[in-house]
Amino acid sequence: MLFFRSLAFCCALWLTADWALADQPTPIVLWHGMGDSCCNPYSLGYFAKELEEDIPGVYVHSLRIGNNFAEDTENGFFMRVDKQVQKACMIIKKDPNLKAGYNAIGFSQGSQFLRAVAQRCPDPPMLNLVSLGGQHQGVYGLPHCLYPTHKWCDFVRRALNYLAYESVIQKMLVQAQYWHNPTREDEYKHGSLFLADINNELVINADYKNNLLKLKNFVLVRFNNDTMVEPISSEWFGFYKPGQALIELPLELTDLYKQDRLGLKQLKESGRLHFLQVNGDHLKFSREWFNKEITEKYLK
Ligand SMILES: *[C@@H]1O[C@H](CO)[C@@H](O)[C@H](O)[C@H]1NC(C)=O
Repeated sequence: MLFFRSLAFCCALWLTADWALADQPTPIVLWHGMGDSCCNPYSLGYFAKELEEDIPGVYVHSLRIGNNFAEDTENGFFMRVDKQVQKACMIIKKDPNLKAGYNAIGFSQGSQFLRAVAQRCPDPPMLNLVSLGGQHQGVYGLPHCLYPTHKWCDFVRRALNYLAYESVIQKMLVQAQYWHNPTREDEYKHGSLFLADINNELVINADYKNNLLKLKNFVLVRFNNDTMVEPISSEWFGFYKPGQALIELPLELTDLYKQDRLGLKQLKESGRLHFLQVNGDHLKFSREWFNKEITEKYLK
């Protein structure tokens, strides 16, 4: 009798726990952009709070790379991207709230970093990836820096124009690691420590492709009047046609797509690669737009 009662009790508990879990919204991981930090009350901290209001009960984890906010911001300029991605993977794996899977939202460079997390660290699974103004084919120009303007911006910009593929600059500067000079494709493919690797430029890493294909949806948001990213088409995985820096190719006309080096063709053909656009400058979107186009469709 006692046995049956405890059995019933255990199963009732188990069912309740299961039901409660099924009812919880999918947790969300955020990764901030250059010059920003995980929890800045005027940017990502504010955005996280809005998400929590708009998706009741959601768990939001804004990644902090470093021991405090200042370190997190500096690391966005100076910590080797591979190391940042490795840290992010560890943080995500250690968070018990994320173990059943999570959605991810990247801001600017945080978008390509989260894509690297999806490609390199499939456990726990990333379900939907939203890229807000990410530079998936890199940048060839950094006309402005992000809010709040950071003291390192101008230095970074100058260094990259001349020395992006010098090994010492590659190792030191985050933005050099996704600098893509279309007039020196060969140097980029051999010299870029981060972007050339995650974009399977020299070799095809089958894990990267297979893992990216596990995404339910990959949402690419482009800001049509972006003054901070050059070229803007990089936000949709497009880039300058190799050998020059005037004509831009959309993703579908690049080798990356035609040879399906990353699985993007398969993602698109299965209706899981989405191209959204917003009229406005870098990361300038309204809460209403975000709720209608992103939250309702991919996060709820
Ligand atoms: C933003 O870009 C779009 C598309 O290129 C264009 O139609 C629109 O006029 C631009 N808006 C502003 C304010 O420049």
